[in-house]
Amino acid sequence: MPDLALVTGAARGIGRAVTEELLARGYRVIATARDPVALDDFAASVRGDPIETGILDVESPGVAEQVGRLIGGRPLSLLVLNAARFSPWDETVASADLTAARQVIETNLFGSWSVLRAALPALRAGRGTIIGVGSGSGSHGDPQFGLEVNPGAASYAVSKAALHALLHKLAGEVGADGVRVHVVDPGLTATSPGMEEMGARPVREGARSVLAPLDVTPFAAAMALTRDGRPLPW
Ligand SMILES: NC(=O)c1ccc[n+]([C@@H]2O[C@H](COP(=O)([O-])OP(=O)(O)OC[C@H]3O[C@@H](n4cnc5c(N)ncnc54)[C@H](OP(=O)(O)O)[C@@H]3O)[C@@H](O)[C@H]2O)c1
Repeated sequence: MPDLALVTGAARGIGRAVTEELLARGYRVIATARDPVALDDFAASVRGDPIETGILDVESPGVAEQVGRLIGGRPLSLLVLNAARFSPWDETVASADLTAARQVIETNLFGSWSVLRAALPALRAGRGTIIGVGSGSGSHGDPQFGLEVNPGAASYAVSKAALHALLHKLAGEVGADGVRVHVVDPGLTATSPGMEEMGARPVREGARSVLAPLDVTPFAAAMALTRDGRPLPW
């Protein structure tokens, strides 16, 4: 039986490329997204591969039930927490619209928290791996977008720093159950128009960076924040 993976925000961008890569690696993938049309289009493009789809808005109150239903009591080998909301480049701590900022933190922190909590029994059963898609913008070590160097996209950076901390704490909590936790930065990736001109990498390369922890010795890199499989300071 193929290993089972669940990916959030799988219908486009890095999540879609991650799903394609997992299918290529022989996983059975539960691809989730909140847009049914985009999800159906994606599923049609990989027809023949072992893909299951499910509508999942990570902020919806019914996340726990939906995730449980999609997994259906099976052991889960991999959970990729990819879904996220961005904030404007020119949003600073001082200027941020707090309603919008709360929304970003709700999606990126609490949305991911809800999904991972719902998936934990299946991850424990499968001695599975959680890959949380973080960001250099929420780290102290990224020379271009890190917390100390880039004043913009404030709520996004804060949400990702909080996600890193959440997953760091979780790693300590579930390690004894054989569940591994990794936090990754895909690197600046061209998922929206104009990003290539900023030096962003192709989407497949960002997806490879997300899945790089699967290729290194298990546990050696646990609790690390990595880009392309190499540690990035928290
Ligand atoms: N691109 C980069 O340079 C970069 C750099 C560092 C980190 N990252 C991280 O990489 C991940 C993927 O980003 P991306 O560049 O591929 O962005 P993207 O193309 O905007 O994809 C984000 C995905 O998240 C989904 N999403 C947003 N809110 C959601 C919700 N409430 N419930 C379920 N899904 C939701 C979006 O779905 P809809 O289509 O429905 O909106 C979309 O599929 C994110 O975690 C991002 O923070 C990206």
